[in-house]
Amino acid sequence: MCGIVGCVMARPAAPLLLDGLKKLEYRGYDSAGIAVSDGGAISVVKRKGRVKGLEDARALKGGTGVGHTRWATHGAPSECNAHPHCFGGICIVHNGIVENAATLKEECVRRGETFSSQTDSEVIAHLIAAEEGDLLTAVRAALQKISGSYAVAVLSERAPDTIVCARRASPLVVGCDGEGSYVASDIPAVAADGRAVYVLGDGEFAVLKKGEPPAFFDGALTPVKKAAIAYDACADTPQKQGFPHFMKKEIAEAPQSAEQSFPDLQSEVYSALCEVLCQTEHIHLVACGTAYHSTLCMYYVTHRFAKMTAQPFIASEYRYMDPIVPRGTLCITVSQSGETADTLASAALAKARGAKLLAVTNVKHSSLERMSDFVLPTHAGREIAVAATKSFCAQLAVLYALSHTIAQCRGHQAPPVSPLFSAMREALAAGEKVRAWVPYFVGARSVFFLGRGADRYAALEGSLKLKEVSYLPSEGYPAGELKHGTLALVDARTPVVALITDPAVADKTMNAVHEVSARGAPVFLITTIPACLGCAEVTACVLLPACEPAYSPMLTALPVQLLAYYVALACGNDPDKPRNLAKAVTVE
Ligand code: G6P
Repeated sequence: MCGIVGCVMARPAAPLLLDGLKKLEYRGYDSAGIAVSDGGAISVVKRKGRVKGLEDARALKGGTGVGHTRWATHGAPSECNAHPHCFGGICIVHNGIVENAATLKEECVRRGETFSSQTDSEVIAHLIAAEEGDLLTAVRAALQKISGSYAVAVLSERAPDTIVCARRASPLVVGCDGEGSYVASDIPAVAADGRAVYVLGDGEFAVLKKGEPPAFFDGALTPVKKAAIAYDACADTPQKQGFPHFMKKEIAEAPQSAEQSFPDLQSEVYSALCEVLCQTEHIHLVACGTAYHSTLCMYYVTHRFAKMTAQPFIASEYRYMDPIVPRGTLCITVSQSGETADTLASAALAKARGAKLLAVTNVKHSSLERMSDFVLPTHAGREIAVAATKSFCAQLAVLYALSHTIAQCRGHQAPPVSPLFSAMREALAAGEKVRAWVPYFVGARSVFFLGRGADRYAALEGSLKLKEVSYLPSEGYPAGELKHGTLALVDARTPVVALITDPAVADKTMNAVHEVSARGAPVFLITTIPACLGCAEVTACVLLPACEPAYSPMLTALPVQLLAYYVALACGNDPDKPRNLAKAVTVE
């Protein structure tokens, strides 16, 4: 999604801005631009497409500047809709959504102002330009008129060598070292050896001035003192390390990610959490996308072993459904990025209604982490490919541990999770066989992933992965529901992937295999049960190591992720940067 960088320093800003934008590329974007101020006059270069298209801006003079990668929401990807947006000597970059932009624009037009883009963001420059007083006061006054979310960095021709920054419900971090001050929308874009990094709180402002340390202010513009956060300065942008794509590398890292994420059950944090888990009667699980699928897997395991309902919710639904949050509810939010707007809003709502918050997130210092009572980090390492892969398995490791603990608290036994980690390594090797399945999928009219029990949730995730990176229409479906409508869609051009890991219902899913095969569909089987391999109607299969069926998504995720990857390649798509999608969805 959109990204912001900015700096105020003695040497030219442009090279640093371009490097910073490259670090934000993984988030997904469709245009980019920078603005550099040289003692007042501001030069802007922006382009549709990739950051590398901005190379001619490297020569811009001036040590103060801002840069942006845009993921289109209001207005198509184009040069004029790319940020920065300038008006009346003010130049801004913005992440978020100005929800009342139409009304605000009308007011500006009535004053005789014209707009040069279709974006909601441009109005921010107009509003600031219309304000009196110093830049900080003007920015605050303008932002008070806005409903929606923002992270902004603002340059003004009247305030040389200065950037004013502000945030509401969209992340922004500030850095400083001996050379100058920096701002960015995520920590890796600002982190560097020996640089102090500060996280801007919601509603706060920062002023970056040449030759001065950054100054921070609360919503009333009262100065606030901030402590620098501890972060890993050496954690550079990950490299592909010989893999052709990040997605392939990250799938390969899944076993290690899951194992490293399994919480230390003896730790103080976990023991404190244990007490809460043992007392709670109501658990809400809230997330989006792949993270939502991991909560479905936890729901299933908790139901099965702890005999308790942990209720999964899609965050974009939860926040508007007026959720019932009974006393003593624990709301577990799951998010790789820790910045997904709907998940954050749901967490805030649950908290306001009295729930305790537990965040399961992969990003330290993320907004989700900062607002939660408890945090169980996933240790998947940075995930660069837009489609979540290793983070899904890491989330499962944490969520299964929680289910296991809840089962124990309630006097039930759950099977151990740890045997899964070595089985994942075998599953990864076995999963490579799916590469041979690719010709059946390229050009398919639609693809079905079928399963029962836990397999049903892995089917949902397999289908999502395929859609994300291959752009093929696909559905994950409970195998038993097939007859109730979906079977009408099945023919020789609809390959079916059947997931079968539970001997108790293997025959039932096999019935679905017979049904689709009778309609001409090629069937691909992913199973942990050798007895299922003999079926003559199956075109090809992958045998995974035996495992507890309720935990099987941790294994079956690997071949379905690999299938999505290889089909994407065969379709000529870049699996790391699927069209229209963003890594961290920081707007609604
Ligand atoms: C985006 C990503 C998905 C991800 C979802 C939730 O849509 O493309 O891969 O599953 O957001 O992200 P989160 O960071 O909250 O896990």
